[in-house]
Amino acid sequence: TRTQDEEDLPHATKKTMADHLRKYESLFTLTPQRMRMIVEAFKETLEIGLEKHGQIVPMIPTYVFGWPTGQETGEFLAVDLGGTNLRVCLVTLQGDGKFEVTQSKYRLTEEQKQGDGQDLFDFCASCLKTFIDSNFEEGSLQPNELLPLGFTFSYPCTQERIDQGTLIRWTKGFGAANTEGRDVAEMFRESLRKKALLMQTFQNVPVELTAIINDTTGTLIASAYVNPKTRVAVIFGTGCNAAYMERIGSIPKIKHLGLDDGAEMAINCEWGAFDSFVHEHLPRTKYDVTIDESSNKPGEQAFEKLISGRYLGEILRLVICELIDDGVLFLGQNTYKIEIPYALDTAFLSLMESDPTEELLMIIGIFTHFFALETTLAERQFFRALAKLVGRRAARLSACGIAAIVSKMGYLEDGCAVGADGSLYNKYPSFPDRVHEGLQDIFGDKGKRVLFLRTFVGSANNDEDSERQGYLHTCLNTR
Ligand code: GLC
Repeated sequence: TRTQDEEDLPHATKKTMADHLRKYESLFTLTPQRMRMIVEAFKETLEIGLEKHGQIVPMIPTYVFGWPTGQETGEFLAVDLGGTNLRVCLVTLQGDGKFEVTQSKYRLTEEQKQGDGQDLFDFCASCLKTFIDSNFEEGSLQPNELLPLGFTFSYPCTQERIDQGTLIRWTKGFGAANTEGRDVAEMFRESLRKKALLMQTFQNVPVELTAIINDTTGTLIASAYVNPKTRVAVIFGTGCNAAYMERIGSIPKIKHLGLDDGAEMAINCEWGAFDSFVHEHLPRTKYDVTIDESSNKPGEQAFEKLISGRYLGEILRLVICELIDDGVLFLGQNTYKIEIPYALDTAFLSLMESDPTEELLMIIGIFTHFFALETTLAERQFFRALAKLVGRRAARLSACGIAAIVSKMGYLEDGCAVGADGSLYNKYPSFPDRVHEGLQDIFGDKGKRVLFLRTFVGSANNDEDSERQGYLHTCLNTR
């Protein structure tokens, strides 16, 4: 029996949708064999990045030496420039794994992301100043006391010290001018100087920018603080990237520094760049190609563009638009709203998949409210199936990256913990299970030995309580 809405408009038939779904299944499904091939190529890429400077996957030495003890104490300021928000906070480490956090969060505008770089750092400094003014009472700080400031800057930066970082390139759609190739720590210091925050400040307390770190490195350290079995950290958010601890002797490109070979240093892989430009290893569909070519950085971040929160909604939107163009969907309806690039947020994929109602009421809501489109139940089921394909491919591809690190480091025998954070990991309910499932497809039963730890980095979620823990990493690295 046909429902009312199916009678009113010429909707897609179930048979047509089943045919299309089969086609998309074959485009978006990754077999275990294909995954293992990707893992092998990934491992090689990681090794090359450690050997030579300037590689596509840069394997950046972070100058974060070894693990925290859990006994770190003190007060630290942190500024976190992620892909979507700016956060400022004060962390008090109390030792024994205890800490307190006060924080403010600001949504970044498109103008800030695309404008002048110095203006962006000026904005960070203004937010920090407002934060200090409203969170420190007159006389609460001792004159000449120094407030260390950690800067979580989640973009690829080459470092020569922990308090310096040269931006290699913007990622995640950022494009602020006059920043690539420059020392962002120095640019931020310049902005702090302007706000008189650096030298002589509020109540004569100088703020000192002591560390610049990537969110993955932060997650690695914060996870280890909670679980000493942590070996790797992954961010699944607006962007996707990983960090792990490497033996210094296994990083040939820094041999000339004469550091202790047996000591360890965290490596920020910047794995989002895997397969960039060459496009030899990853299964790209024409939708992925469209996203890449219409992005502000064509060719770059090839792996990230198949996986991260910034792009998943767009992949699904492009599939839907193709079906509109082919006359399969929404005949007789005005489709202009869904034809706007990036109109379909990745959060919708997660909502579509987790809609608990038989009628898929949440999906009705999304389509009527955001796109002014009427759907039949069969169409909604079809969209849900499509969302699953896109989400599942992303999770399985990230499993390939994790598998490459785990296998390169030989962590499979004894097992290890992976600290994970980011909106996709925390808010897309089926995502973590699919990453797990992917690891088991690659490693068989041994894949179960890789355990995941949800680590809350401030940049990645909205939950108050979890954000409390988020800044742990920044302050641990500020010391
Ligand atoms: C992008 C950035 C990387 C960051 C990741 C997650 O890949 O290049 O530095 O870690 O997003 O935020």
